[in-house]
Amino acid sequence: MKQRDRHETTKTYKIAVISGDGIGPEIIREARKSLDAAAAKEGFRLEYAEYLMGGAAIDAVGEPLPKETLKAAKSADAVLFGAIGGEKWDNLPRDQRPETGLLALRKGLDAFANLRPIKVFDALIDASSLKSDVVRGANLLVVRELTGGIYFGQPRGRDEKRGWNTMVYSEAEVERIAKVAFEAAMRRGKKLCSVDKANVLEVSQTWREVVTRVGKDYPQVALSHMYVDNAAMQLVRDPRQFDVIVTGNLFGDILSDEASMIGGSIGLLPSSSQGAKGGIFEPIHGSAPDIAGKGIANPIATILSAAMLCEFALGQKGAARRIENAVEKALELGYRTPDIAAFGALCKTNTTEMGDIIAKLILDG
Ligand code: NAD
Ligand code: IPM
Ligand code: MN
Repeated sequence: MKQRDRHETTKTYKIAVISGDGIGPEIIREARKSLDAAAAKEGFRLEYAEYLMGGAAIDAVGEPLPKETLKAAKSADAVLFGAIGGEKWDNLPRDQRPETGLLALRKGLDAFANLRPIKVFDALIDASSLKSDVVRGANLLVVRELTGGIYFGQPRGRDEKRGWNTMVYSEAEVERIAKVAFEAAMRRGKKLCSVDKANVLEVSQTWREVVTRVGKDYPQVALSHMYVDNAAMQLVRDPRQFDVIVTGNLFGDILSDEASMIGGSIGLLPSSSQGAKGGIFEPIHGSAPDIAGKGIANPIATILSAAMLCEFALGQKGAARRIENAVEKALELGYRTPDIAAFGALCKTNTTEMGDIIAKLILDG
């Protein structure tokens, strides 16, 4: 009886898992080990169900985002996602491509606020392609608008002679992402840099005006504005000048890949995309076709995305901290996948070994 009571009160969460293509299944497998370990330590349960998206879905059922996947993602407590895409599907028209499945998932969940934290692990200071004096201690957050801008603007299209897209933002879209960014800045260093191209683009003039207006409600946050070309340069010149960056869909995509090298590898950067419910948790990198199947992908970006899932979707902060601490510990102990293995690394590890070590450190912690 007692046993049953305990079981009935154990909190259980439903996680929709989308492994995707390329290294997707390899990194998701490792992230689940960390999630299970953290759940065991914190005393909650996770129920996983796997769904198709991207190239895998195109091959199996002929479309990049099957209805079943979207429905399950909407009803789950959170979505854990790996990566999609690959050469095999590169010549399909846009609406049938793997990437369109991901865009439709984000739109379908109204996951408009993509948070991409970048921090420099002391243990990896030499993994960055930038000088250690430049990157040591850097810690920033890119808040990327995810369901608008040029990715979704109309008109778009192609004929024999031209291709066209439209970058459009409504005031309402800018307002809601600006609020998320100001709130994040309030929890962090109270500095927000809004990145746009207002010297050329009308869409950026709207963006800048609305961000400035929203800023009036956050007098404690020091707001600045920067043109995107300058921001790209400043990120590598002096990344420590930034606390929170807020920007549109396309600029955020590009700047966050660039910023990943501050910490040493794109294989380290997690993200959360919050919408109406739950959210999507995914590494910022892609399906890495060049290393897929070799067992050498860095699973840390996905493992840290699982930590964000625990914190933001499940409210399980303790589990999130356990996962983050274990990642840090593994790096301190010298474990390195090839992407972060500076010359003379102590322990060269593959994807599975890195996942196993981190899960073990969680269980031992
Ligand atoms: P990519 O991010 O897949 O790879 C860029 C480079 O980073 C490659 O050299 C790759 O080996 C390396 N890399 C990426 N993740 C790594 C990891 N975890 N560990 C070690 N190295 C890692 O970008 P790409 O090559 O431009 O795109 C490949 C495919 O992925 C394309 O089809 C693209 O559309 C898709 N893509 C998907 C997503 C996503 O699913 N969210 C994101 C970006 C790109
Ligand atoms: C990312 C990716 C996606 C994007 C693609 C695959 C649609 O690059 O998640 O950063 O551009 O948003
Ligand atoms: Mn990207």
